[in-house]
Amino acid sequence: MNIAMPWLRGPKLLFCIIIGCSLFISCSERGEEKLFRIGFSQCGDADEWRKYMLQEMKRELAFHQDMELIYKQADDNSELQVKQVKELLADGIDLLLISPNEIEPLTAIVEEVYEKGIPVIVIDREIARPSYTNFIGADNYEVGRIAGQHAASLLKGRGNIIQITGLPKSSPAIGRRKGFEDAIREWPEMKIIHTFNGGWIRPPAQRGIDSLRESLPQTQLVYAHNDVMAMGAYEAARQLGITDIKFIGVDALPVQGMGMDMVADGRLEASMLYSTGGVEAIRNAVQLLKKQGLPKRTILPTLVVDSSNVRMMKLQSDKILSQQNDIEKQQDMMAEQRRTYNTQRTFVYILMVTLSLVVLFAGLLWYLRQLNKKINRQLARKNEEISKQSEQLVEMSARATEANEARINFFTNISHEFRTPLTLILGPLEEMLENRKLPSPLRQQLSMMRKNVVRLLRLVNQLIDLRRIEFNKMQVRAVETDLVLFANEVVQLFQEIARRKHIDCRLLTAERSLPVWIDESMMDKVLFNLLSNAFKFTEENGSITLQIEKDVAANEAVVEVRDTGLGMSTETQQHLFEIFYQGDHDTHKGSGLGLALSKELVELHHGRISVQSEKGKGAVFTVRLPLGNRHFQPEEISADHLESDWLLDEQKYFQSEVDDRAAGAATTGDEGGQDVIAHDEKPSLLVIEDNPEMRQFLRQRLEGSYEVLEAGDGNSGLQQAMDNLPDIIICDVMMPGRDGINLTNQLKTDVRTAHIPVILLTARTATSQQMEGLKSMADAYITKPFDFPLLQQTLSSLLANRNKLKEHFTAALPAEIRTPGANKTDRRFVSTFASIVEANISNDAFTIEDICKEMAISKVQLYRKVKALMDTNINEYILQMRIQKARYYLQHEEMTIAEVAYKTGFSSPAYFSTVFKNKVGISPTVYRDKGNGGSGPRN
Ligand code: FRU
Repeated sequence: MNIAMPWLRGPKLLFCIIIGCSLFISCSERGEEKLFRIGFSQCGDADEWRKYMLQEMKRELAFHQDMELIYKQADDNSELQVKQVKELLADGIDLLLISPNEIEPLTAIVEEVYEKGIPVIVIDREIARPSYTNFIGADNYEVGRIAGQHAASLLKGRGNIIQITGLPKSSPAIGRRKGFEDAIREWPEMKIIHTFNGGWIRPPAQRGIDSLRESLPQTQLVYAHNDVMAMGAYEAARQLGITDIKFIGVDALPVQGMGMDMVADGRLEASMLYSTGGVEAIRNAVQLLKKQGLPKRTILPTLVVDSSNVRMMKLQSDKILSQQNDIEKQQDMMAEQRRTYNTQRTFVYILMVTLSLVVLFAGLLWYLRQLNKKINRQLARKNEEISKQSEQLVEMSARATEANEARINFFTNISHEFRTPLTLILGPLEEMLENRKLPSPLRQQLSMMRKNVVRLLRLVNQLIDLRRIEFNKMQVRAVETDLVLFANEVVQLFQEIARRKHIDCRLLTAERSLPVWIDESMMDKVLFNLLSNAFKFTEENGSITLQIEKDVAANEAVVEVRDTGLGMSTETQQHLFEIFYQGDHDTHKGSGLGLALSKELVELHHGRISVQSEKGKGAVFTVRLPLGNRHFQPEEISADHLESDWLLDEQKYFQSEVDDRAAGAATTGDEGGQDVIAHDEKPSLLVIEDNPEMRQFLRQRLEGSYEVLEAGDGNSGLQQAMDNLPDIIICDVMMPGRDGINLTNQLKTDVRTAHIPVILLTARTATSQQMEGLKSMADAYITKPFDFPLLQQTLSSLLANRNKLKEHFTAALPAEIRTPGANKTDRRFVSTFASIVEANISNDAFTIEDICKEMAISKVQLYRKVKALMDTNINEYILQMRIQKARYYLQHEEMTIAEVAYKTGFSSPAYFSTVFKNKVGISPTVYRDKGNGGSGPRN
């Protein structure tokens, strides 16, 4: 957290500096802001007099930078002027300057402004009431009066006058007329013969004079209310050719071509000076805005400008003008300098801000570098720690792996170690139980011991399986299997128990067959566990069904094991498949291994197992297995079916567990096995086993039924097998030197020994090892601890099968050998042997030595092999073949008896006939004549 704070402090400081600079710049620039807004409403500005007024105002304003002039002119239109005053008012002016066009129309609006408390200065023309703060202008009555006096002096008290007025409703026109007429009235011989309205502008004055042309010859003087109208009248008279009339005007504007120039060049006799009041208007406005007192009226002076003073006046005004121009220029320069100053000042501010930022960023950069270094140092330290920790972890994990390996090895070894002594306990126990004279209490105790040894063994086996799955040492070897057949086999194993417990146990399915890919050695454990579980919890007269369905939509095979047993709580269902969970059955507590193992095994098949149950209402276990084999890895698929004795063992153990009577019944186990062996002499049995104790045990138990040969290791075992060609071999897998699997491979690929059934016997139960054993073509694989009657049964079955094979080989033509029970090497042997005989059937010099040579085999080995596989001797076989062929020729070919005799390898027809009659019962001739050789007695 402490690391994050300084990062925040930098940007905060930067932000403050920027805000500070902006405020500083804006405050500095505020000094130039206009504090006062002066609105100026002008009645019109087409004429020079009003233009001059505006110029004067602007010049004066240059001295007051805090004043802003908002200017509007109304083109001599009173209505427009009222509207413009309203706009100025809305604009928010601080003071109103107004030169009203006419008195009445403008009075109301001026009053409105004034009443709002805004100072109003009326210039030049007045309004009806004194509702203003200040009036600036000359006294127009005085202007008229001195004009009248000047006219009287010009006309020496006698003559006619024409008066041209300004707008009659404007105050200057009213004042100027009255003053003039009052002055003239004092001269009895002076007369104003015409007065007309010139509207303050030139054209109406011109037109007025023109229209009075009749009166002009009697007129001596024209008085106009301003110079502009006087000039118009002057020009109109000149155009009419009248030159002796005198013209006087008002204003005497010191602008080129205007009043003062007109007087100077003699066009006007005189002009009454009438100042615009522009300068005074601004000065008064400033005074008012700065709250300094002012008199109500500022009256401007007036005087007569005529030829006597016009030069001096002009000089003065020119000088003022030039001074004013200078002032203007200086003001322009000052404004320019101010602009430059402002620009430079802004630049300086920007520079200052930039510099501050640079300094700030440099600081920030330095700070960040320091911080970065610190963080890097911390990271490096952490990194080092992590590397150390990861090294420790690697070391620990290596140690853990080692320990684990050791644990598995120890576990596996100790379990295996358990098995051999358990086997050695189980063997004598079973032997004792076989004794029919055993007193009943002892039998019960022995039976109990047997049951518990078996239980112990099963637990050890299940534990080993679970551990192997846990450490990924157990691999599925799936083969395509008909689930219906497979499940039926398992269900059949339980029929005896079902019968005893009066439980209806059956397989239900609508499928004729359902191919699934399973590892039979695993799936049989699953089905067995589910069924044995059902049996454990189902009372007498209950029912157990194993149902098989094909779920087409899910592409799965579904196996349901349903019982009508005790059922279980939801709690139990949730934990049922957990290892060592023993459920809520007080009466039948399991080991907690069987269902856990089943779940693991189903999952190795990429399937699912689940349970549904209600207390007292039985249970349904469902196994779902994906169809096809695409869900398996290539190494999980096997080509061969593996057969294991596990199921038989388990069924037996289970049966003995659920039925105490099983102990007694077990005593009858070995007699049945011997029934199968139907030889006159005892069959020979080679026991290859490195454990002398086990060897001795087997000899003792088996020598009553077999001629037992012994070998202590693989090599001497192979030697003995080759030398004696025993009828059957029992071989241990784990032996020093050549092991059992290698030995079996040798035996099964050698034509001389391939026919000998081999039973592999070992303490190792790993599926992979069973696989190896069966791949080596062993005929059976029995794991320690083995059930002795089972071993006997296996020995008997294998020998019985061998005998059946022999019958087959001798009964049919060798080329048709298709017996699935025969191994490949045996079939190859028989078919080679038969084809050699067939090829030589017409060769009467053909001997057994020829066969031995062709088959690269000794005579003794050939005799034994043919005897073992076909239960006949070689000569007998060859003779049989010859007779068989002869019967064929006699039946199907047009041949003489002699031809048949030679064709079947008999040296003479007589000898053929004798042998044929001996074997078939009738002579060849009779046989042929009868047309079939199928009947007739044989001897
Ligand atoms: C200009 C003017 C002046 C005159 C004044 C009277 O518009 O006509 O010539 O003196 O107005 O208001």
